Amino acid sequence: SHRIMLGPLVAAIDQGTSSTRFLVFNSKTAELLSHHQVEIKQSFPKEGWVEEDPKEILQSVYECMERTCEKLTQLNIDISNIKAIGVTNQRETTLVWDKETGEPLYNAIVWLDLRTQSTVERLINKTPGRNKNHLKHKTGLPISTYFSAVKLRWLMDNVDEVHQAVVSHRAMFGTVDSWLIWCLTGGKSGGVHCTDVTNASRTMLFNIHTMDWDPELCKYEKIYGLMVSIRTLGKSDLIFKIFFNIVLVFVMQCERLIQYVYVFYLKNKQCLGDQSAALVGQMCFQDGQAKNTYGTGCFLLRNTGVKPVMSEHGLLTTVAYKLGRDKPACYALEGSVAIAGAVVRWLQDNLGIIGSSEELEKLAASVGTSYGCYFVPAFSGLYAPYWEPSARGIICGLTQFTNKSHLAFAALEAVCFQTREILDAMNQDSGIPLTQLQVDGGMTSNKLLMQLQADILCIPVVKPSMPETTALGAAMAAGAAEGVSVWSLNPEDLSEVTSEKFEPQINPEESEFRYARWKKAVEKSMNWET
Ligand code: G3P
Repeated sequence: SHRIMLGPLVAAIDQGTSSTRFLVFNSKTAELLSHHQVEIKQSFPKEGWVEEDPKEILQSVYECMERTCEKLTQLNIDISNIKAIGVTNQRETTLVWDKETGEPLYNAIVWLDLRTQSTVERLINKTPGRNKNHLKHKTGLPISTYFSAVKLRWLMDNVDEVHQAVVSHRAMFGTVDSWLIWCLTGGKSGGVHCTDVTNASRTMLFNIHTMDWDPELCKYEKIYGLMVSIRTLGKSDLIFKIFFNIVLVFVMQCERLIQYVYVFYLKNKQCLGDQSAALVGQMCFQDGQAKNTYGTGCFLLRNTGVKPVMSEHGLLTTVAYKLGRDKPACYALEGSVAIAGAVVRWLQDNLGIIGSSEELEKLAASVGTSYGCYFVPAFSGLYAPYWEPSARGIICGLTQFTNKSHLAFAALEAVCFQTREILDAMNQDSGIPLTQLQVDGGMTSNKLLMQLQADILCIPVVKPSMPETTALGAAMAAGAAEGVSVWSLNPEDLSEVTSEKFEPQINPEESEFRYARWKKAVEKSMNWET
């Protein structure tokens, strides 16, 4: 029956911090037909360091594609209907590989990683007035451990293999999108080395006004002096480059996929950083529309249209999307929170007080309050609106009465308070307060979290019934580029018919009281050493 109703299919590779997914949608209805997900290991070799294995990342993509195709076949869905595949990815995470051997020269340094804290401090100290926003007029970003440039510099300075490869012009640098696309398009035998503007805008090497690599940034503090000898990602109009050969090579590399060869005849790939893709997937195309995605971290983006707006309240200015060569770039204000879903994994892996994220919800719901316990999970310093790499996590307000359920509740509340801080900054910058918040991402299946979020923001929280908006956005972009118009659904129908709304249930005084306490805890997390 599916076969009759199906329009062309669009798909996405969604390579996130904690897991990789491959998802296939019906372009007529946006229905998710099938998907597969594989977790990604993270290693923490030293305090504050976070790494992932580039080969494991690549392998997980193959595995997800293969399994999803199997599932589709079982559903009697012809995979040759897949007309376009988008790539969307965790941003900033930095890789360097050898273009001759195709081998990664080090693990991927994950965006959360703090090893560049001293580099960042040194850089800021060298700017006039010790100003962390010194490069912001070009990049839209503060100087921070978060972005790729400092990670690349660390690799060049500290990893001999990287240094050697740079000197002998064999080094290739890229974020996860570039690594995957290079491998999938042939790797050492002619892979395409490129990125898109949304990912480029997170490197701290990209000028968001000229939409190109910035020569001055590439020389700044000699950090980027060596950059020129690395074959960088390409020119600005590589954006949305079309990779016709992608699957042929893909199949040659991965024998197991030979049976699916016909899928990949068609093929246009698009690439978007995951937060941009979620903005697209939530249909936030108008100036002023916003979404908040709860993944490993939590990212609130508000579309500001074709104008980059510089924040005065600690937000980033970033490229939201550029959907086609002749289309203008649209920008967003972004509030980035480093730790959201990651706090759940920490409670599970590091403390062992829960076995799964569902357990966390149950535990927290069993008490319904933190009893005055506040948990600031500043594991990677604090991102927006503080940009304080020296902040560290704290738990305060403990009494003998406190137990793990209260801690679980405090962890969920922390995600909500962090979002509140971003929303406040966003409202101050734009002058037009958001009247409701559109949300998506894995954690939104936690109903307690969603209710808490509405309570703490004092505005309704609206969640689409299909929370995979990141993948949907990437699939839409890829489909559009391939001439597959993506479903006739009116965005309004989509939000009214298929969403769930959480209304604030506590009174605003109660909410303000808790938020004020949270702010005190944040102060301590930033000053606990002094
Ligand atoms: O900037 C990092 C972001 O792109 C990672 O997203 O979903 O893996 O937390 P996520």
